[in-house]
Amino acid sequence: MQPTFIPAKRNPVESDQAGSASPAPTQKSVSRRSGSRRSNAASSAPVPEVLTLESLRSAAKTCKACDLWKLGTQTVFGEGPSKARVMFVGEQPGDYEDRAGHPFVGPAGRLLDEVLAEVGIDRSEVYVTNVVKHFKWEAAQRGKRRIHKKPRHSEIEACRPWLDAELKVVKPEILVCLGASAAQALLGKDFRVTRDRGTFVSSDLAPHVMATMHPSSILRAPDSQEREKQRAEFVTDLKKVADLLPTKLSKAG
Ligand code: URA
Repeated sequence: MQPTFIPAKRNPVESDQAGSASPAPTQKSVSRRSGSRRSNAASSAPVPEVLTLESLRSAAKTCKACDLWKLGTQTVFGEGPSKARVMFVGEQPGDYEDRAGHPFVGPAGRLLDEVLAEVGIDRSEVYVTNVVKHFKWEAAQRGKRRIHKKPRHSEIEACRPWLDAELKVVKPEILVCLGASAAQALLGKDFRVTRDRGTFVSSDLAPHVMATMHPSSILRAPDSQEREKQRAEFVTDLKKVADLLPTKLSKAG
């Protein structure tokens, strides 16, 4: 069966200079709606003119494109090699990630690491990021716990220029959306992870694009039997990604 082509849902990022070095990149504001420049820096992601992972990471530290910067401890930018062949995109950093400043280092990250190792993918060779780069949370009714809150569409859109820029720099051959927030942000609101997970879809975001479940949802499974079942499905999906890796896929497309 031919995969359905899913046009990229993205805000344009205008620079095309990925990888070139500049000592002091100037910053350009990318509007969350149109991609045009805006004078109100507080409402636009300050994506730098020169795109490298370093310039992006540094500029994202001061991002105030939505109000989540007030809630999170810090911006949690994507991590991994700029030439990674695979990019994983989650929803947003969690409590651990917010404190550590690194994506997928809490329980969900440990499960992801475990499954990557099981299918033979080296975590240090993949790029891992999120559609939203600040932790959105609310205080638990009792105690000091910070409870994850799902980001709003407007927050995902405000953060989108960073993800577009990461895609532009890394140019992954394989893009894996982890969970519904990432899948719907990148593949459209009608995408259903429960129905469409584990299938490569045709998209202009990368030569191979797949969505699978989010490791956090596996950890939230109601009982161990269901958790094992979902984990096995996750392994099956990521095995398909691993199976593509030994082949010499062209990065240039
Ligand atoms: N969940 C995510 O989606 N991303 C993280 O970085 C951690 C947990």
